[in-house]
Amino acid sequence: MYNITLIEGDGIGPEIVSSTVKILEASGVKINWERCLAGVKAREKTGKLLPDETLNSIKKNKVALKAPLLTPVGEGFKSINVTLRQYFNLYANVRPSKNLPSINTPFKNVDLVVIRENTEDIYAGLEKEIDKDTIHGIKLITRRASENICNYAFNYALKNKRQEVAVVTKANISKLADGMFLNCFREVQKKYPEIKTREILVDNLCMQLVTNPSQFDVLVMPNLYGDIVSDLCAGLIGGLGVAKSANMGDDCAIFEAVHGCAPDIAGKNIANPMGLLGSAVMMLKYLGEEDCAQKIENALEKTLDHGGILPYDLGGKATLDEFTDKIIENMTV
Ligand code: NAI
Repeated sequence: MYNITLIEGDGIGPEIVSSTVKILEASGVKINWERCLAGVKAREKTGKLLPDETLNSIKKNKVALKAPLLTPVGEGFKSINVTLRQYFNLYANVRPSKNLPSINTPFKNVDLVVIRENTEDIYAGLEKEIDKDTIHGIKLITRRASENICNYAFNYALKNKRQEVAVVTKANISKLADGMFLNCFREVQKKYPEIKTREILVDNLCMQLVTNPSQFDVLVMPNLYGDIVSDLCAGLIGGLGVAKSANMGDDCAIFEAVHGCAPDIAGKNIANPMGLLGSAVMMLKYLGEEDCAQKIENALEKTLDHGGILPYDLGGKATLDEFTDKIIENMTV
């Protein structure tokens, strides 16, 4: 029995959490979910956006599944997602993008993974008003974090039988910051002679991704480029509704969908649960529950193969409940 912290989130969060929990239960994995609050709901109940109880639960369990949280715009507090990543030093954000059956996209054979540095860059929150017309924003890049993420990317490639790791920077312009990231990559790559490497500038990468994405395998990059490029990659395989991710540290991990809380469709029973479900499957693999993970992946593939059983955002007509029930049915037949 695993103890796992569960954050239900806002908007469509509770609906996709309920769907994902049901599907995981049907796979046979035994999980004791510790339900904790974060964000606006937590503030309403406890006065704090990230209550100590939630932080302590993650500290104890070292694994969490998290639904998206609403970030109020214009209320000067730091994003809870960024806070969690920095607090638990979840320095690697792993975002795989692979074509799924029955989802029509302009490209076939997309199977790449964005590994995004997750703790610094402009997300360090170092902005300062110089005068009322001038803001200085600091892009923080450290050798320690750059080496960590490059090592993570190569280890990921080895573990997942990937052939190539490409480093993505803008080192032609950001000579010191991206230059150091690139140099760290060049140093780290010497330890992994079996993995092919490549260096690419982020602007060229974006053009290549929307013309010939199947050439890429593992991509490692600083935080901001990773944030933007991984959403682009989600678009290559069907959109935000299907994109999954993991925030990984050395001894703690938080799994979450890439998308936000989609307030426009909340409560309508039409959300696509695949982003959170895919993240939960990554969690099962992390826990070593390969069989249960495989069972869910097979059932999902079978469900999508039917064509008619697609959620609304993928052009189908299945409600969230219908889609969930079909996946469970396909797991048992
Ligand atoms: P969003 O990702 O919530 O929605 C963008 C569009 O994609 C909307 O049309 C929405 O209906 C659709 N969409 C997203 N997920 C979907 C799903 N599972 N099924 C079907 N359609 C889906 O982005 P938006 O509107 O910019 O942000 C809404 C809120 O979410 C904001 O407060 C934002 O700060 C927050 N957010 C939270 C994140 C997190 O907690 N990890 C990540 C991104 C945004």
